[in-house]
Amino acid sequence: MLNLKLFAVPCAYLDSHLKMTVTEDEPQPQTDSTTPKPKYEVLEDLPGVGPATSQKLKEMGFHTIESLATATARELEPAGISEKKALDVIRLARGSIDLAFIRADELLKQRENIDRLSTGSEVLDNLLGGGLETQTITEFYGEYGSGKSQLCHQLCVNVQLPAQQGGLSAAALYLDTENTFRTERLVQMAQHLDLDPPEVAKNVVVADAYTSDHQIFLLENADKVIKQNNIRLIIIDSLTSHFRSEYVGRETLALRQQKLNKHMHKLIRLARAFNAVTVVTNQVMAKPDVFFGDAVHPIGGHIVAHTSHTRIYLRKASRGPIRIARLVSSPYLPDGEGIFKITQNGIEEAEEGEGRRRRR
Ligand code: GTP
Ligand code: MG
Repeated sequence: MLNLKLFAVPCAYLDSHLKMTVTEDEPQPQTDSTTPKPKYEVLEDLPGVGPATSQKLKEMGFHTIESLATATARELEPAGISEKKALDVIRLARGSIDLAFIRADELLKQRENIDRLSTGSEVLDNLLGGGLETQTITEFYGEYGSGKSQLCHQLCVNVQLPAQQGGLSAAALYLDTENTFRTERLVQMAQHLDLDPPEVAKNVVVADAYTSDHQIFLLENADKVIKQNNIRLIIIDSLTSHFRSEYVGRETLALRQQKLNKHMHKLIRLARAFNAVTVVTNQVMAKPDVFFGDAVHPIGGHIVAHTSHTRIYLRKASRGPIRIARLVSSPYLPDGEGIFKITQNGIEEAEEGEGRRRRR
């Protein structure tokens, strides 16, 4: 693991990014505008949470006030606290960070905080409306070698650039489920951008996930590391590979989908709480009954399809470094297609001629 610089995300910053949807079974915050809201910084500050309870909560993955504010009472009960106490703790945590229903005009204002991260290819960035946006999940899916992991590596470098160069001046978290993360690749990409490779490598936190449960556990416990290291890019490469190999057979499908759903919602919460770009990769499966159009579809069914805000399908051109990216789903952008290439330098613009050769 790499040695990282520590940065703290100011609470006021989090406040403005934590206005999220409240589900029915969760307690509503007390909204008394006349009394100032108490501010709790750490779990132990919350009334009724002593050292023993806070220790148990941390062991369960709740390290911050933000994580408690977005928890359900049932999730907190294994810490040995009653449902009533759990509801109280959640209410206090929410009161502390101004979690509330949000009007559409405020939502628009919140969207003004959305930042964009460049992929390194202008064509790809344009396809995405100016780069990958924060606060949402972007999914890259495609067959082996289509460039999903290469894009993830490039984003880990680009996120460290200043805004004028398409970055977020921040660090990255890489959850690697297939053991394909390579620091050497970051170094090549950093050198091409005239960045200091050791410095770039220091700003990428990598965690290997050995099973789907381990992958879930890592993300559940990520809030502290994200906060401490100024991480604004969270990658899961790949989102589905462990789930696909572990849950085989129809009888396991419901449980798999339930777990994937919860996992992706945790990712959305992190994306909003830290105004972060979140990226997941996904493999494809052959559709044996398709004669026209694409004979493949991404894994994960409706859950992954509906939870990813933006989906990009990557294909290899018949040969060479060219890759074809198609935007297949976006909440507001039209579908479209563009090409880029993968070279030793990383993700680069494909030149005119290269694109034409592909189409011939
Ligand atoms: P799976 O994880 O197997 O599903 O594939 P993926 O979509 O993640 O593929 P990945 O991003 O790992 O792309 C691998 C491909 O990128 C290779 O087959 C090469 O074509 C290209 N590539 C990777 N590294 C380099 C490099 O250093 N130089 C060049 N020129 N191409 C590279
Ligand atoms: Mg890969």
